[in-house]
Amino acid sequence: QGLGASIAGDRALPSPTPAPPVPRLGLVPTMGALHPGHLSLMERARRENEVVVVSIFVNPLQFSPQEDFGNYPQDRQRDLDLCEQQGVDLVFAPSVEEFYGLTGLGAGLTDQLTQVIPPLGLTQGLCGRSRPTHFQGVTTVVTKLLSLVQPDRAYFGQKDAQQLVILRHLVRDLNLPTQLVGCPIVREPSGLALSSRNAYLSPDQRHQATVLSRALGAAQGQFRRGERSGAALLATVQQVLATEPGVVVEYAEVVDPDTLTPLDSLGDQGLLALAAQVGPARLIDNVVLRQR
Ligand code: PAJ
Repeated sequence: QGLGASIAGDRALPSPTPAPPVPRLGLVPTMGALHPGHLSLMERARRENEVVVVSIFVNPLQFSPQEDFGNYPQDRQRDLDLCEQQGVDLVFAPSVEEFYGLTGLGAGLTDQLTQVIPPLGLTQGLCGRSRPTHFQGVTTVVTKLLSLVQPDRAYFGQKDAQQLVILRHLVRDLNLPTQLVGCPIVREPSGLALSSRNAYLSPDQRHQATVLSRALGAAQGQFRRGERSGAALLATVQQVLATEPGVVVEYAEVVDPDTLTPLDSLGDQGLLALAAQVGPARLIDNVVLRQR
């Protein structure tokens, strides 16, 4: 009808009423025990979307039986208050039974659940070496969250660098219609990267743990002065880490930031990632080595 009128008459056409903009939805997946690192993701999501959803779910699938699923720090009321202060529209905090539609954990859960397996090439190194089923738990839970919430964007921290790389591959490989947004690491003034697991540290251990970011910073400086040998950069990292005997290094590696393959010699950038045990806490940290 509109087309007919436009051909027939030469009067100005009434301008079509613009369709109301579709509100964009941003999702911030978390396991709770929220800290300013999580809040930075929410702030970014708040700036970029009309609707912000935060999920709080301690996902049993990504913990091995020896790990801290049972003691993972939790304070639901505090988390909800923080979400409210950030202007979050909706918090999704299902129980394990509700989320997986199954009762019981352990064998019962993994025996009956369809899971999403990330590529071996991305899960064999770094954290995957000591946590062989961890990332499968992460890709499974994130696939379910994206499927349930159907966000336009989902926000993840560079703090968990391997997780972010694996999730980028997940979204691409399975053609999931969500854009992933990587966000910078939030640190304490001491350099310590914020983590829910820092709650396990005594004041003394917290101080010891600052050696992780100092080691990364020393290697970043060396890289910027022109060092391109992976072994030389790692030697610096190990040297700095050795100044804190209470910090037990699990790994320190330089890898390609997109494929996570180890790099003997670096081009214009590389991901330097490490994990260490400090008292009761297993901590991770990383830096993307680049010129500026
Ligand atoms: P969680 O450890 O609670 O972290 C939730 C998100 O916050 C992750 O994307 C993580 O990288 C980010 N984050 C944590 N500490 C940060 C910091 N210091 N600076 C910036 N971002 C930080 O990661 C998970 O939960 C889970 O594996 C999850 C993705 C929710 C799946 O269960």
